[in-house]
Amino acid sequence: MTLLDVRDLRITFGRRTKVVAVDGVSLSVAPDETVGLVGESGSGKTTVARAVVGLVRPDSGAIVLDGQPLGRIGRRSAAAHRAVQMVFQDPRSSLNPRMTVAAVIDEVWRTHPVTAPEGDRTAALHGLLDDVGLDASVARQRPSELSGGQCQRVSIARALAAKPRLLVCDEAVSALDVSVQAQVLRLLVDLREKHHLSMLFISHDLGVVHQIADRIAVMRRGELVEEGPAADVLGAPQHEYTQSLLDAALELNE
Ligand SMILES: Nc1ncnc2c1ncn2[C@@H]1O[C@H](COP(=O)(O)OP(=O)(O)OP(=O)(O)O)[C@@H](O)[C@H]1O
Ligand SMILES: [Mg+2]
Repeated sequence: MTLLDVRDLRITFGRRTKVVAVDGVSLSVAPDETVGLVGESGSGKTTVARAVVGLVRPDSGAIVLDGQPLGRIGRRSAAAHRAVQMVFQDPRSSLNPRMTVAAVIDEVWRTHPVTAPEGDRTAALHGLLDDVGLDASVARQRPSELSGGQCQRVSIARALAAKPRLLVCDEAVSALDVSVQAQVLRLLVDLREKHHLSMLFISHDLGVVHQIADRIAVMRRGELVEEGPAADVLGAPQHEYTQSLLDAALELNE
């Protein structure tokens, strides 16, 4: 069974000189599964993510969620829009600096009324903040008053408020300090179980992906070069490019 099915995706940028950012990529994510997407800078990971959430229009190929082809974000049904949520790399710039945390969550509830709590909204808000490890007092604060890690927890809460089926995390912990990175990663692992989330987890850091992914897909220059269970891809890579990524990761750790 698959939840997300990306079929033969091709995305180019530019008119005269075309950059082929994604070149025939197919991948799938099963319910409750986390797929790690790795590859060096410029390999096309973010472009795949942006296409999945509907921010980029593919030249060709299909993005299918639960058997339904997804169009661009403006054309997506409210349900499809809600079903795929994204957590971005920079926690601060992905939040509106003028909005309090309570307003950020309230906006989700207004945009997607089916997600709005029926009873006590304050209690629901505090429950959501508690889910992502934030104190209720954070509700009144704005991003400038919060740490990077707290902002990223707010971004995760905002995504969860929409009750998504699939969470797309694009370098979601990369901008955080190492100790905070580990905490936010742990949170994502916990939430995945608690909320039965599927994830497309993008990172250039194999060590991070290792901790969360069930399967790993490796991109190079717009193409998928290897894909399989995390233990196989990391333990016995089939493609020399994957091996070179592993070697580079080991060198960094030395
Ligand atoms: N909006 C855009 N316009 C033109 N070219 C783009 C655009 N977005 C991405 N590209 C190009 O597409 C290719 C893939 O970029 P992408 O950002 O998807 O890579 P990435 O794997 O996410 O890299 P990183 O690890 O640095 O985040 C690159 O050559 C990039 O320069
Ligand atoms: Mg990227």
